[in-house]
Amino acid sequence: MWKLFIRALLFRLEAEKAHHLTFKLLRFWFAIPGLRFLTHRAHHLPGPGLERELLGLKFRNPVGLAAGFDKNGLLIREWGDLGFGFVEVGTVTPKAQAGNPQPRLFRLPKDQAIINRMGFNNDGLEVLAGRLSRAKRGRLIVAGNIGKNKDTPNADAASDYEKCFHALFAHVDFFVVNVSSPNTPGLRELQEKGPLTALLQSLQALNAAQPFQKPILLKIAPDLTDSQLDDILEIVATTGLAGLVATNTTISRDGLATDAAQVAGIGAGGLSGAPLRARSMEVLRYLRARAPKLPLISVGGIMTAQDAVDRLAAGADLVQIYTGFVYGGAYLPKRICRAVQKQLTIDNGQWTMGN
Ligand code: FNR
Repeated sequence: MWKLFIRALLFRLEAEKAHHLTFKLLRFWFAIPGLRFLTHRAHHLPGPGLERELLGLKFRNPVGLAAGFDKNGLLIREWGDLGFGFVEVGTVTPKAQAGNPQPRLFRLPKDQAIINRMGFNNDGLEVLAGRLSRAKRGRLIVAGNIGKNKDTPNADAASDYEKCFHALFAHVDFFVVNVSSPNTPGLRELQEKGPLTALLQSLQALNAAQPFQKPILLKIAPDLTDSQLDDILEIVATTGLAGLVATNTTISRDGLATDAAQVAGIGAGGLSGAPLRARSMEVLRYLRARAPKLPLISVGGIMTAQDAVDRLAAGADLVQIYTGFVYGGAYLPKRICRAVQKQLTIDNGQWTMGN
């Protein structure tokens, strides 16, 4: 049904138009009396084995919608109805910004991949906070992915992240600090040891000053070297960060089936989807081997239910999807949940094969 009709229709449109149309269709769908109830029922699995406690929060299931899909928090409750256990809204920046000129979103169907250079287009902090404050969410956990405006120099970046932290504090369950998008010039330099430690320390100080604390995680790029990953783990320990989200999109173009000239014609941007699968898994394994207890959310190239099970079995606590949702359709969260229920159990705080 998805591949035959809905995806076939959406894939005929330019990618960004299809994204906006998807939101319109979902709004229309959920506004029809009775359909919310039926959709919720169709997309949720009864039975045990999916719930996961992490970061002091109770996740209904381990499947999340990755950052960037609903940057502006337009459809919070609906993600829960579609079977997700959590959603990461954003990346949000203090001021609204238009992002890069279009076209900036490209599908590579031969590779089951996407290249994007959106550049943090978003409605800004105030609008997002307003939407989140009004949103019903049921049992859906909501994370806020925070970033800096393009025209804020790196030297002043901390102040942008602090503004985001303050404005969203009352509205999100946990934070994800994004210093790993390839589409804001210079942003990834904030992943270097010195600036990153300073940024995270300032956020943790703000957090400590609140009457109660919210978990702050860091989202990292798949293009970091082993020694940079070691640095990240050291920084996580020194700043008392709650965990990591690994990974963002890659700047690599290795191993693509799509014609090289076509790929070159697309130009700069982050690559996501199936070609990211192996590297994202590798980063997960690297981190898990060195930080056995650190909360890890694995994202990147999870295209099938089996991919998700493999990540959880390799030590991820939760998973997120973006490109897999575009190619695999609205039942992917449920398919993942079914596979988790069949194949995994939680043993000693970790997903384990064998059920
Ligand atoms: C993203 N991603 C992303 N990540 C982030 O931290 N902030 C953002 O604003 C965005 N925006 C965004 C837009 C588009 C069009 C795509 C395809 C991706 C990255 C995303 O959350 C995820 O980390 C990667 O896409 C890898 O996962 P998948 O797509 O391979 O499942």
